[in-house]
Formats: sequence, C-alpha cells, structure tokens
Amino acid sequence: MGDWCSTGRRGGWQVLFFILCLCALDSVTGQARYTIPEEQAEGSIVGNIGRDLGLEVKRLVSGKARIITRGTRQYVDLNRDKGILVVKERIDREELCGQTTPCSFSFELIIENPIQLYRVTVEVRDINDNTPSFPKEEISLEISESAVSATRFSLESAVDPDVGVNGIQNYHLKPTDNFQLEVHSLSNGGKYIEMILQHPLDREKQETLSLVLIATDGGEPQRSGTVRIHITVLDANDNAPVCGQPVYKADVKESSPKGTLITTVSANDADKGINGEVTFAMAHVSKEAKELFELNVTTGEIKLVAKVDFEKTNNYQLNVQAKDHWGLADTCKVVIQITDENDNVPTIQLMSFSHSISEDSPLGTTVAVINVEDADSDGNGIVLCSINADIPFKIESSLTDYYTIVTESPLDRETVSEYNVTINVSDEGSPPLSSSKNITVKVSDVNDNPPKFVQPEYSKSIQENNSPGFSIFAVRASDADWGQNARVSYFLDDKQVNGLAVSSFVSVNSENGAIHAARSFDYEQIKSFDFNVTARDGGSPPLSSVVAVRILVQDQNDNAPQVLYPVQTSSSLVAEMVPRSADVGYLVTKVVAVDVDSGQNAWLSYKLQKATDRALFEVGLQNGEIRTIRQVNDKDAVKQRLTVVVEDNGQPSRSATVNVNVAVADSFPEVLSEFTDFTHDKEYNDNLTFYLVLALSVVSFLFITCLVVIISVKIYRWRQSRILYHSNLPVIPYYPPRYADTLGTGTLQHVYNYEVCRTTDSRKSDCQFPRPCSQNVLIMDPSSTGTMQRMQSEKNILDEPASPLEVS
Ligand SMILES: *[C@@H]1O[C@H](CO)[C@@H](O)[C@H](O)[C@H]1NC(C)=O
Ligand SMILES: *[C@@H]1O[C@H](CO)[C@@H](O)[C@H](O)[C@H]1NC(C)=O
Ligand SMILES: *[C@@H]1O[C@H](CO)[C@@H](O)[C@H](O)[C@H]1NC(C)=O
Ligand SMILES: *[C@@H]1O[C@H](CO)[C@@H](O)[C@H](O)[C@H]1NC(C)=O
Ligand SMILES: *[C@@H]1O[C@H](CO)[C@@H](O)[C@H](O)[C@H]1NC(C)=O
Repeated sequence: MGDWCSTGRRGGWQVLFFILCLCALDSVTGQARYTIPEEQAEGSIVGNIGRDLGLEVKRLVSGKARIITRGTRQYVDLNRDKGILVVKERIDREELCGQTTPCSFSFELIIENPIQLYRVTVEVRDINDNTPSFPKEEISLEISESAVSATRFSLESAVDPDVGVNGIQNYHLKPTDNFQLEVHSLSNGGKYIEMILQHPLDREKQETLSLVLIATDGGEPQRSGTVRIHITVLDANDNAPVCGQPVYKADVKESSPKGTLITTVSANDADKGINGEVTFAMAHVSKEAKELFELNVTTGEIKLVAKVDFEKTNNYQLNVQAKDHWGLADTCKVVIQITDENDNVPTIQLMSFSHSISEDSPLGTTVAVINVEDADSDGNGIVLCSINADIPFKIESSLTDYYTIVTESPLDRETVSEYNVTINVSDEGSPPLSSSKNITVKVSDVNDNPPKFVQPEYSKSIQENNSPGFSIFAVRASDADWGQNARVSYFLDDKQVNGLAVSSFVSVNSENGAIHAARSFDYEQIKSFDFNVTARDGGSPPLSSVVAVRILVQDQNDNAPQVLYPVQTSSSLVAEMVPRSADVGYLVTKVVAVDVDSGQNAWLSYKLQKATDRALFEVGLQNGEIRTIRQVNDKDAVKQRLTVVVEDNGQPSRSATVNVNVAVADSFPEVLSEFTDFTHDKEYNDNLTFYLVLALSVVSFLFITCLVVIISVKIYRWRQSRILYHSNLPVIPYYPPRYADTLGTGTLQHVYNYEVCRTTDSRKSDCQFPRPCSQNVLIMDPSSTGTMQRMQSEKNILDEPASPLEVS
C-alpha cells in the first residue's frame, strides 16, 4: 500500500486518486495485485480476480461487479462470468509511466449488495520493445588536423524509452583508429558520450573520416541504434613547402641574351588552398648575382636579366626560398654554371716602340715590345701572335703574353725607308677571334752611301776663244742617303795644269756642280786638260767620290796658214833654178805652209793663182809641189814668177799667198844677169851662214843645260819623296805638269811638241826633249845647182820650228 501511494505523486490525477484512496481506505475490503508485461493483446488474461479475492462468480454476477477507473483510459476489463480480468486496451508501459519504475496502475472493483470495494493494482512489466535511437541520422564534424591528441568531442546520446535493462546499455564506435569513446553517466541517470582523439589527424593522408556510433540496449533480443559520424579534417598549415629538387643545376652560355630562362624552381606544399600556396624568394644572394638573375616570385622561373661574363665569375649559387603564407619554408640551391664562349677579342698593347730604327742596327735589335691579352679562358684565351712575312722583322716571344719584334735581316733605308708592320693576334677559339695593329717603322738614315756621279767620267768640248766665266756644263752627283747625308757639295781638286793651278782654268760651283771657264782658252796653247771634281756629302763623317773631267778645247779657224818656204822677204832674190833641159814633171820647188789650227782648219790646199806662164807650171793641190808641166824651151823667159795661194779648209777659210821666183837658165851667170839683185845678196848669205852656226851652238848649249837640269831635279825629287815617305807625312804626289800627257793622245802631243819647240821656257823643257827638228826637212836635190848648199842651210833654219808640227 505504502509504495503504491508513494508512486502517486506524478500527475494531477494521481494526486486525486491518492486522496480518494485515503478517503475510502477504511471501506476497502481486499486488494489484489497483478503483474503483466506491456503490450499484451486485447483479451489477454490479467488474473483470476474471483479466485484471488475468494469471490464466487455468482456473487460477482449478482453483485454487479464492475471496475471503476479513475482517468480516461481503462486498460483492463472484467469478465464477470469467468471472474477474470482481461486486457482491454494495449498497454504501453512507456506511455503509461515513462521512465518511472515500477510502472503500475490501479482500479477498483466494486460489488453491490453489499457493497464491497476491492482494489486491484496491475504492474506493467517492461519489455524491450524500443530500439535505441539517435536524434539525427548523421553527425557531421569538422576537425582541424592541428587538433592535438586527447581533444574531446561530445556527441549526442541516443534515446531508448525502455527502462532498466532494456534501456541503453552500451555505445560502440567503429572504427576506433583515431577515436575512443568515453561514456559518462549523469546523476540523473542519463549518459553523455565523448569522442577522444587518439592520434592527430592528417588531412594530407585522409581528408574525411566516416565513423559509426552504435548504441545498444540490454533487452532480449538486444536492440541497437546507429548514427554515422562524418568527420571532415580541416587543413592546417602543417606542411612546409618542399623543393622539387634539392639542387638545381643549370648551364648558361656566356653569350645568352637577356631574358633567357635558366631554370625553374618548383616546390610542393602538401597543404591545401592558401596554405599550399608557395612563393619564392632569393636568400643570401650576392649583390652581383641579384643583378644578373631574376626570380619570378610566383612561378619560380629564374631568368637572366643582364649579360653574364665568364671571365668575371664562372659560377653562381643562388639560394631560393620557397615559402608558404605562414612562413614555412624550404630552401633550394640553384647552381648556375657559366660556360665560356669566345667572346673576347685578343688585344694588342704596345709596351714600347721605337718609331725609327737606324739602318745600321745589328740583327736582333728590338723594334717594339707588345703585350697581348685575351680575357677568355682555355683555348679561347690562347693567343697566337704573328706579323706579316714580307718584312725584315720577326716576332719573338719573350715572356708569357709578351712579344718582341726584332730585326731579322739587314736594313737599308735606301731600298725601303719604312715598313708597315701588321701585328696580328688570334685566339684558338672556334671561330677564332683576331685583331691586328699596324705600326710604321721608319728606317733612319746613316751616311752609308757616297755621292755618285751620274757619269763615270765627264768629257766636254768647248770652243776656243770662249768668254771667261762661260758655263761649260755641270757635273752632278746624287747621294742615296737622306737629308744632310745626301747634301752634296762639289769641289775642284787642286792640281796644276801647264804649271798653273787648275782653278785658274775652271771653277766649280759647290752647290750645283756647274763648271765655269775661268779664262778664255786658246786651242793653240792648250787642247785639253783634265782635273778631278770631288763630290762630298754632308754626313759625319762625310763620304766623297771623285770624277775625272776632261775639257777638250775645240779648234776654231782663227789662224791663217803660214808659209814657211819659200821665205818671203821684201826684196826677195831667192829663185829656184830650172835647167832648160828639165823634163816634164820636173820638181821645181815645194811650197811649205803650216796652219797652227788643227784638223780641217789645218788642212791646207795649194793653188796657183798667178803665173808668168801658166802653161809651164802647176802646183800640187795637196802637197804644194811646183812641177813643170811641159818641156822647157829656149823661148821661155828666164825669170818666171808664180803666186801660190795656200788655203785652209776652215769655215770660213783663211788663206795666205806666196810668191815663188823661178829662173829658167842653164848657168848661174845667166841667172845673175836676169836677177840683178843677186850680188848684194852675197853678203846676206855670209851673214846667214854665221847665224846658222850661232843658232846651232845655242841649241846645243841649251840641250846640254836642259839635260843637266832635268837630271838634278829628278834626283832631288827622288830624295825628297823618300824623305816624305819615311816621315809619314801626307804624301802629296807631284806629277810633272803634263807628265801623263806624254803617253796621251796624238793631239796632246801636238801641244807638247808645239810648245817645246816654240818656247824658251826651261821648265817646260823637262818634257821630252825635242825630236830631231829636221825630220821633215825638204831635202833639195844635191845634184841640182850650186846654189843648193846655200839654200839648204836657209831651209834648215826655216824648217826647224815647223817640223814638229808634223806637216805631212
Ligand atoms: C611571373 O610569371 C607570371 C606568369 O608567367 C607572370 O604573369 C608575372 O608577371 C611574372 N612576374 C614577374 C615579376 O615577372
Ligand atoms: C704603310 O701604310 C701607310 C698608310 O696606310 C701607306 O701610306 C704606306 O704607303 C704604307 N707603306 C708601305 C711600305 O706599305
Ligand atoms: C690574323 O691571323 C689569322 C690566322 O692566321 C687570320 O685568320 C686572320 O684573318 C688574321 N687577321 C688579320 C686582321 O689579318
Ligand atoms: C693594317 O694594314 C693592312 C694592310 O695595309 C690593312 O689591311 C689593315 O686594315 C690595317 N689594320 C688596321 C688596324 O689599321
Ligand atoms: C784624279 O784622281 C785619281 C784618283 O782619285 C787620280 O788617279 C788621277 O790622277 C786624278 N786625275 C787628275 C787629273 O788629277
């Protein structure tokens, strides 16, 4: 009773029923109690109330037993006829009591006549008729991968209306890789569940997880309810970018243009979205490299932005940092190797250079020192140096990269005065690069060439009777040297001509070599003369050369022929005797004439101009012989007179006339009678004989004197020259004037003979002594007349001066 009442505190009607129960307590005569499971079918027997209360069925029927239910629903009905209680309506324990246990309801059985009141309590027993259920079919969770272990996630618990063992007993989670379940009991008997993270999640491995949570009750059969848990793993920036390669290697040609793509750095970030975005940056990069390379921040492309130079740096190392937005980073190395290209032209530098080199420099004289450079490396930087081949220089390597240009063969400024040296350097690249430099080497002059006369010797004619100062001609000498070394001056060599200094004959203009006559020449005195002209250059020391000059004086017809025989006297009584018996062709006499001119001018011809009897005589045109041309007869006059003209062949010609007396007689008296003047001529003839003897004596004396003088002079000079020779003094050779000429040409001999025979100058007589002067003397026939002796002596006198003239 007590626990029944204690259950009546729920609900309004239960409170009311409790009050009624208390009021009617003393009137209740019995009680019955039944337990039935819930959910019994209608009509199911709850209990035999008649038997249990000890009431007869009759009583029940007669007492009109009935059930009084307080409340709206009547679960149980009374079958009076059988005295049993049956289920009237489905009883749902959960509906009736909820979670209250035990669950029961009560009603009264009332029997009238007498009224009897019985209380019947029916306890409803739970059966497992409910499945645990979750409020949602699916639970979605989002869990960051950064969530640490032991992080708890509370889950909604399932509901099972059944009570007791039929209520939820257990929860299970499947699978249990990542989470464990923890079930906590609440003080109100409820439960709450939590999921505990066992291992951190990794989005990068598994982006979503599917779990099943199962709630099971303890009923028989057991019932369970499930809920799917869908977990989305949220990304956390837990991954640093990773470089595609730890080291990127790239080769870049030196010649690569700007903008060339060198390499692309890539990096992977396993994170998602913004966490996976990677940017690139250069880190710890030299300033130089920064200027050369550009890194695209987003793509990681490395491009060339300036010209690389192998010769400066041949490799670069860049550190590229790949970074995500949260600062996680990886560093990739980029090694850029520059490959050399033959991009540098070798250069030539003149270290020292003499612009001019003396032509007498010895072989091997250094002309220039050059330095060559090529900034390239290896073969591209190996330099070959050469010079053009057609020059007398060669190139030698002295030190590495240094070359000297030296003379290889003798130089001669007079042949080539300057050389263009082309220095060519080329490297061994492919294709090779080369450059060249031109230097001009001047060969400076040395006075190594004497002046040279244009002609080996000069010979020049000049007409006699020239005016003094007349310019005869000019000698010319050239000098192959240069400048002062080639400046030629002319000098007349001192020398004697005919005992006079040569300078009194000619003068030489020292500047231009013009030779002027210093006086008027007379062919009859000097036919030619020789002298030397020295040409001297201005070098130091000077060089000179000598040329022999011969001046030939040319004859002019300035002398008329001179008749030597017969001698013309004012009162000439000289006559040639012709015997009356003379035959045709009898040589009467010979006209002898000379012309001091020469050649044509001295070529004489003889003509008969006038004659007493032109038919009797003729004159030899060439030889001047007068001969009879017919038999002389008695009728011919004794005294005959002929006029002969002697003409030279000059232009114009000059002439002389001579009168020849001829006596045609057999005896001298006969002649005398004709030539009355002959008597006083006797005295004259005596005188003539005297003079002849005198002259001969004088000539003999002179000859001896001459001989003595010559011998003494010769001895003196010989001694003198020996003294000079021994004293080492400069020997001034002395040549007797015209000494050489004695061996010279016939023309010169003419001069000689002429002079020797015509002069009384003793100095000039130290030449050849006169030849016998009578060589060409006309010898008269001794068998002719008595006058012959006298006439012959006369002729000797006349012939003497004339004979050396070689009148022929
Ligand atoms: C990087 O590359 C992208 C794509 O090619 C381009 O649009 C961007 O302009 C580049 N950035 C730089 C700084 O060059
Ligand atoms: C050297 O070169 C110069 C200028 O090019 C030229 O005038 C001269 O004739 C050349 N000399 C020789 C010897 O080739
Ligand atoms: C220099 O010499 C090289 C090789 O001998 C040649 O190819 C080049 O043309 C020369 N250069 C000049 C400027 O002469
Ligand atoms: C050097 O001289 C040569 C021949 O005269 C000529 O071809 C060349 O161009 C010159 N080089 C230079 C650098 O003047
Ligand atoms: C000229 O000089 C040469 C030697 O140089 C000498 O033999 C010759 O005799 C000289 N001639 C004259 C006319 O002086």
